[in-house]
Amino acid sequence: MGFYDAWKSQEHVQLFDIWSRVPLFVLRDRYERFNEVRLLNAWADARQSPFSLLEIGCATGEFYRYFVARHPNASYVGCDISEVAIRRAQEKCPATGRFVHTDENLSAVAGLKPDVVFCRDVLLHQPDPFAFLQRLYGLTQHTLVLRLRTRDVGATELDPEKSCQRNYGAWAPYIVVNAQALLHTIQGFSPRPRRIHLAKHYMILGGQHARFLPKECYYPETGTAESALLIEKVDGNAPCAVTEEACSENLRLGLIAGAVARFCRG
Ligand SMILES: C[S@@+](CC[C@H](N)C(=O)[O-])C[C@H]1O[C@@H](n2cnc3c(N)ncnc32)[C@H](O)[C@@H]1O
Repeated sequence: MGFYDAWKSQEHVQLFDIWSRVPLFVLRDRYERFNEVRLLNAWADARQSPFSLLEIGCATGEFYRYFVARHPNASYVGCDISEVAIRRAQEKCPATGRFVHTDENLSAVAGLKPDVVFCRDVLLHQPDPFAFLQRLYGLTQHTLVLRLRTRDVGATELDPEKSCQRNYGAWAPYIVVNAQALLHTIQGFSPRPRRIHLAKHYMILGGQHARFLPKECYYPETGTAESALLIEKVDGNAPCAVTEEACSENLRLGLIAGAVARFCRG
C-alpha cells in the first residue's frame, strides 16, 4: 500500500476544513480540551517571550487559527505532505511561507530552527514512527510537543499491514507504540533530553474509525491511550526527568460551543 495516499485526497481537505466554519471561541473550547494543547500552552506561558512554532502535519491550517489568537506574539509555520490541504490553508491565510508543502521526510522545513515543534496525530501514521520521532526531535531547538497512540502492555506492532486505519478509501499505518519502549528510546536521543512528560488519555483504540489493529488493542488491560508527549532538550549535563500522568480529557464541547459547532458544520 502507499502509506501516504489517504492524505492526498480532496475528501481529507473537506473533512478537516469543516472546522473553518466554526467561530474562534468554539475552536478554542475544542483545542483546549486536548492534553497536547494544554502542555504546549503551559510551556509557552512559562517562557514569557516570543517564540517560533513549526507545526508538522498542519492539514488545512485550523490549528493556526487557534494558535495565533492564543499566542499573538509567536511566529508560526505549518507543513504537510498533502498538497491539496496546504493549498486550502494558503487560500485561507495567504501570508507567504506560512504553509509549506513538504515530502514525508520533512526536507522543506529542515533548515528552520523553531523553538517548538508541534505535531498532532501524525506520528502514528508513519511506517517507522521511532525514526520519525527522532527526525522531529532533530528539527526543534528546544521543545517538541506531539500526540500519538500508546499501549502500556505488549510490544509495538510495527507492521502497517497488521496495524492500520482506512481513511478516505486508502489504508494508512496506525501504529500504537509501547509507552516504556517510547520513553526508553527518547532517553537515548542526542543531545539527551532534559525533560520528558507523557500524559495518557486512556481509551480502547480497537474497533473505532475503520481501524485494523492487533486484538490486544481491543482489551482495556492493554492500556491503550491517546497520549500527549512533551520533550525538552538539555542545556547542559542535567539528568533527564521523566514523568507520566493519566489525564482524561473531557472532549464534549461546552453547551453553547457544542450547539454553535453543530449549526456551523451542518
Ligand atoms: C490525521 S491528520 C492530523 C491533522 C492535524 N495535525 C490535526 O491534528 O487535526 C494527519 C496529517 O498529517 C499529514 N502527514 C502525514 N504524514 C506526514 C509526514 N511524514 N510529514 C508531514 N505531514 C504528514 C497528513 O497529510 C495529514 O494532513
